[in-house]
Amino acid sequence: MIKRETIEKIFDTARVEEVIGDFVNLKRAGSNLKGYSPFNDEKSPSFMVSPSKQIWKDFSSGKGGNVISFLMEHERMTYPEALRWLAKRYNIEIEETEQTEEERQQQTEREAMFVVLEFAKNWYKAQLFETELGKSAGLSYFKQRGFRQETLQTFETGFSSNQYDALTQAALNKGFKKEFLIKTGLTLERNDRLIDRFRGRIMFPIQSMSGRVLGFGGRILDSSLKTAKYINSPENEVYHKSKILYGINQAKQAIVKEDQCILVEGYTDVMAFYQAGIKNTVASSGTALTIEQIQLVKRLTKNILVIFDGDRAGIKAALRGIDMILEQGLNVKVLLLPDGEDPDSFSKKVSTEDLILFLADHTQDFINFKAALLQEDALNDPIKKGELIRSIIESIAKIPNSIQQEIYIKEVARIMDISEKALFKELAIVLKGLNRRLEKDNLRKKQKETLKPVSPEKQAQPKYNKREILEREIIKLLILNGPTEIEVEDWEIKDIPEGNAEPIIEKITRKTIIADEIYKQLQEDELEFSNPLFNQLYNRLIPKSLEHQDIDLKQLMPQLSEEEARLISDILMEEEKYSLANWGDRQIEVKTKDATLGWHLMDVLLNLRRLLLLELINEQKENLKNVETDQTRINIFNEIKDYLFLFRLVSTKLFRLA
Ligand code: CTP
Ligand code: MN
Repeated sequence: MIKRETIEKIFDTARVEEVIGDFVNLKRAGSNLKGYSPFNDEKSPSFMVSPSKQIWKDFSSGKGGNVISFLMEHERMTYPEALRWLAKRYNIEIEETEQTEEERQQQTEREAMFVVLEFAKNWYKAQLFETELGKSAGLSYFKQRGFRQETLQTFETGFSSNQYDALTQAALNKGFKKEFLIKTGLTLERNDRLIDRFRGRIMFPIQSMSGRVLGFGGRILDSSLKTAKYINSPENEVYHKSKILYGINQAKQAIVKEDQCILVEGYTDVMAFYQAGIKNTVASSGTALTIEQIQLVKRLTKNILVIFDGDRAGIKAALRGIDMILEQGLNVKVLLLPDGEDPDSFSKKVSTEDLILFLADHTQDFINFKAALLQEDALNDPIKKGELIRSIIESIAKIPNSIQQEIYIKEVARIMDISEKALFKELAIVLKGLNRRLEKDNLRKKQKETLKPVSPEKQAQPKYNKREILEREIIKLLILNGPTEIEVEDWEIKDIPEGNAEPIIEKITRKTIIADEIYKQLQEDELEFSNPLFNQLYNRLIPKSLEHQDIDLKQLMPQLSEEEARLISDILMEEEKYSLANWGDRQIEVKTKDATLGWHLMDVLLNLRRLLLLELINEQKENLKNVETDQTRINIFNEIKDYLFLFRLVSTKLFRLA
């Protein structure tokens, strides 16, 4: 855990306009900066950054927030990753909170491994680009395979010579500990001798989504040698083969932009596609696809295109991967390359244009793919045809979304010339069989989801009900006008007649502070916000507001959760946009707004209280249905009576206000 003080320091130092300026071309527009949305293609710039408020808003996608949320959205970092990235950019030393001895050890161990791996990446890179041997053996090999310099730079490829301990010695000389060279698998210990794992190979650093080096793959240069073509880092504390996709760091933005991820098998396939301009490509690196890898993709897109080499071997095994993608609720398409080709070789045979055309023409739905694959032997054999259909239905049964299932069933009916009715019946049977397992899975998934924080996409366009709109408006008033003194019209209770008659009230005008008024009125009914986010933010804001202080965004931001920061920046940017649009008659606008502020405040508060009271009354009425003793019944009646009185009072005020 990063210490609170460090987080505050990061927020203090980091400038949203500088950080975003690293990724987006920004131009001054009044007190703001403007640019083209990095999330959408657009014709006129709608992406705004406010240096004074340290927030950003993308009006084309609805996204917005502070400097951290920009890195999370744009670079797909996690919250701690974003903090660490900023600390690095601004040379801030990160202090960690007290950890258990074991945790600290693990943490420092992992950090030490990352440092060694980063060193090794740079060292291999320098060997490739800067040494005579690297240039004549490694670089020329890459060139001969058609890779351009800039592609090699993007993927930070390297070279290891045949010298048995070159990297190990270089690292030890730099003061790196033997322990971490061994833990990362870069160095092997044999009979008290230290030797490099990777020798005489071109090197592919394998990175995390945020660009940390986790390990390496190395390809032999001389194919006549009798060792494995590729060797990889061994499993260790930072390198978990099953959780890694090669190229994800370079591909992540293209994946989001294209809303599709292309999955291939090898390192060179990824690089070749990237070079051909198809940048949304990652590789499972020769292993069978895992759930963790699919979930990594799921953070970026719901659409996966799996490309199979044209050698047919292993395709049937890969069908399992397709079912797994379906199970995770993603859409999957499949493409089979011509005989003997892999993405690397094929992309170099044809022009980029032809490659794109080929992909468009030959991409298949998984049903067609499965059908085509199995149809050969099933064509004239009714039993085999039955098995084939069953197998397709089994895939469809794994899709969590039933509408999607139906669409696919219709597709199968068309392709296989079978009635939809028969297929649905078959689906029902398969589903029944799966049911117990599915139920368990779903339960687990649901439990997981409730624990997970809401993803940024889900928050992008929140839909609020009537009550939440009012609650949000109160937050907005607190943030924008909390300490403002205003005059409000109110009504004083003069008399409360018996029975159902309206209370007798008299109109008065009184001075108040907006924050005080909000607090007082909500307190009066002991009311809480229904939306947990608003409630949380309200409780955070109100203490300062009651001291009649302006909300100090700089001080506040480091304490906020992602969701809270987003909400605040949305609110602030709404105002900004409004005032920009009306900049011509700014003076007039501000004045009229001040004049109506009191009225607006009362309108919002009374409407909210009325809704909340109504809900409470209904709740108590429900409770009446299940009471056991007369005493509780009487208590509930009294409570309802009190609420009803408040409700009538608030309603009366509200109608007079209107
Ligand atoms: N692989 C591996 N170990 C091996 C063979 C393969 O880790 N012994 C992984 C590598 O990630 C490799 C991928 O599986 O990129 C695909 O293997 P293959 O198709 O044999 O290699 P290519 O990627 O085609 O490599 P090249 O074009 O350089 O021959
Ligand atoms: Mn290849």
